[in-house]
Amino acid sequence: MVLNPSENQITQLIYVSKRKSIVDDDEAQKILETSRKNNDTCGIKGVLLVLPEYFFQVVEGPSKNIDELMNRVENDTRHCELKVLSKKALSGYEFGVWSMVNVNIDTENADSFVVLNRLAKTESPTEGQLKGMYFIFKGLSQPPC
Ligand SMILES: Cc1cc2nc3c(=O)[nH]c(=O)nc-3n(C[C@H](O)[C@H](O)[C@H](O)COP(=O)(O)O)c2cc1C
Repeated sequence: MVLNPSENQITQLIYVSKRKSIVDDDEAQKILETSRKNNDTCGIKGVLLVLPEYFFQVVEGPSKNIDELMNRVENDTRHCELKVLSKKALSGYEFGVWSMVNVNIDTENADSFVVLNRLAKTESPTEGQLKGMYFIFKGLSQPPC
């Protein structure tokens, strides 16, 4: 997709929401497929982390497209209690490829899991917690070597 100059402004939005118990791994896979198809056509990139109880998502793209996406996502009944953790303007993408990470609890990511789970339950996250979350996203979204 080619962006025209007025669309150069990129918005990055990060949220956490509560995954409804009816959303099994197949349903999460469907969310990924829809997201990949739709996001590709409107310059949106990011990461969706699927935890047993929560979704974390980073989306980046032209501001208008992010607003439109969030209108749909906020009304999606497969999750609830959506809380925006961060929203800022960027001059370029920080998460260059769209990806979804299904975070299974294992010894390698146990620490990340504990941090994210704690963050999901925190009323007002601190700057430090948000920074930690950002680096966890970056680490988990790296393609395997
Ligand atoms: C946690 C979560 C994350 C989602 N992320 C996206 C997304 O990044 N892009 C997207 O198009 N739809 C996403 N969806 C799905 C939308 O809420 C909505 O169902 C979908 O955009 C409708 O697409 P359609 O009109 O092509 O069926 C997400 C849903 C959930 C529950």
